[in-house]
Amino acid sequence: MAPGMAAGQELKLPLYGADAHVGVTSCSGSTCHGAVEPFKGSNVLQNEFVTWQRDDKHSQAYAVLQNSRSQRIARNLGLENAHTAKLCLDCHADNVGSDLRGRQFQLSDGVGCEACHGGARRWLGTHVAGATHDENVKAGLYPTDQAAPRARLCLSCHFGVSSKTKFVTHQIMGAGHPRMPFELDTFTTIQPAHYVVDDDYRKRKASPSGVQVWALGQSMSMQAMLESVLDGDRNRYGVFPELVTFDCHACHHQMSQEIDLRWRARRGVGLPPGTPRFNDANLVMLRVIANRIDPALAGRLSAATVAFHKSVLENFDRYQSRARELQGVVNEMVRKVGGHGFSKDDIQAILTGLVTEGGNGELFDYASAEQATMALGALISTWRQAGGVDAARLEKLNAQLERCYAATADDELYRPADFAAAIGGFRDLIR
Ligand code: HEC
Ligand code: HEC
Ligand code: HEC
Ligand code: HEC
Repeated sequence: MAPGMAAGQELKLPLYGADAHVGVTSCSGSTCHGAVEPFKGSNVLQNEFVTWQRDDKHSQAYAVLQNSRSQRIARNLGLENAHTAKLCLDCHADNVGSDLRGRQFQLSDGVGCEACHGGARRWLGTHVAGATHDENVKAGLYPTDQAAPRARLCLSCHFGVSSKTKFVTHQIMGAGHPRMPFELDTFTTIQPAHYVVDDDYRKRKASPSGVQVWALGQSMSMQAMLESVLDGDRNRYGVFPELVTFDCHACHHQMSQEIDLRWRARRGVGLPPGTPRFNDANLVMLRVIANRIDPALAGRLSAATVAFHKSVLENFDRYQSRARELQGVVNEMVRKVGGHGFSKDDIQAILTGLVTEGGNGELFDYASAEQATMALGALISTWRQAGGVDAARLEKLNAQLERCYAATADDELYRPADFAAAIGGFRDLIR
């Protein structure tokens, strides 16, 4: 499969498309997307460039490759420079081939408009001449409005794609690269919005709900992780499996912590003490979703999850075949979730499921607690939009959510008991 292509999908990611990238400057004229204030009466804001340049970290993605941290990473990896290395540029810039760079294209623009919206050579003209969204998509505009293509796009940089050059390994993290936690709905929300989803927008484009975006993001994140586990180019490093898909804090924690913060058995994992554990935060979320929308599938997911975890104690071949079995179930989850319209009652049940997992100790690990916190954020805001909560209850829910954020604010200072108390506080609020 070509990099950036998913099974059954013809859609190419912007980095791998055939259309030339005209450059951020081509989009940033003051009557195009470079206005200082939003335009009245236009169906798009037209100040997208200013938002991106001023508030969006993507505009700084290239610049960070020149800072001292990047220089240190490059040195540790034996690279000449971070800002000239393809390994770094494929995620920190719009690194298309030189034949696909228009006259105004500049690599130093970082993750620019076309790194997400696709090379504009064909759609640049049509999209200002009143073409419909579908026509623009046919002319190469990447459909960032749809949840699945958006998930694939963001994950291609916030996790990596199936090619050995665009992937942050444990070796790169060991050299100093930060950990890369990701949740599609939260990240969609915290990327400073340069668009407004209003009635006009909903007529023109897909506008999946937050819970749909969250659930699909969970399934597709897990798909991406399993793809890397099954990719011969990046699934092992000598005698060790590639550690980046394992729970960082299973290894990286102090040995002197109080006893109640130390290792604890988890039913959903089934491993004895002293074993590196696959980062199963997404799997816990998927179990909660499946329990609600397809209990039979949930049963198979739990069984395949435990078998996969245990295979790390067997041998590499077993680890691979169990990963493949789990992948089959996760692929089913992607289809199931993609076709499910989540109701108000679904949201409430999923919230209850999540809080129950917290009570059962399944969110004990930092990575799971961090994912659960982002999940609570996505679920509560969609619950409100669906009319499930009044203002008074919303205020209490948000205060409780703040406690979860506080408990997971710093992975080095994380105390499982604090998070358990914070998530436990939701029990009465979601009845
Ligand atoms: C698979 C994509 C990918 C690759 C490859 C990659 N990065 Fe990153 N990098 C990211 C993402 C995504 C983040 C943001 C993580 C976050 O904050 O959620 C990031 C963050 C960083 C940061 C922290 C930025 C900040 O604002 O503090 C530095 C420094 C960095 N990367 C340097 C590098 C260097 C140097 C290389 C090459 C050796 C590299 N990266 C390769 C995706 C990648
Ligand atoms: C990190 C990815 C990313 C980058 C970089 C990015 N966008 Fe977007 N953009 C999105 C997403 C996601 C949406 C919302 C979904 C959609 O409408 O397609 C969006 C929506 C839009 C819209 C649609 C508004 C509407 O009402 O239909 C415009 C216009 C736009 N972006 C312009 C730009 C411009 C101009 C730049 C560069 C200055 C840019 N974007 C950079 C991801 C990105
Ligand atoms: C071409 C690669 C690329 C793509 C595609 C991409 N990102 Fe990023 N993103 C990055 C890098 C690199 C950074 C870190 C930049 C920095 O710190 O300067 C980043 C940072 C972010 C941050 C800031 C995180 C923080 O810690 O503050 C958010 C939010 C984000 N991305 C959301 C998204 C979303 C949502 C999408 C999909 C619509 C997306 N990104 C697509 C590369 C990418
Ligand atoms: C199976 C255990 C294991 C797992 C899981 C693991 N690491 Fe490591 N990590 C190590 C070992 C061993 C070293 C090498 C320590 C040394 O060189 O002193 C290391 C080194 C590092 C280093 C550089 C040295 C240091 O101690 O700061 C960083 C940073 C790092 N890992 C981050 C991560 C991140 C992020 C994850 C999760 C994505 C992760 N590790 C998962 C075992 C692990």
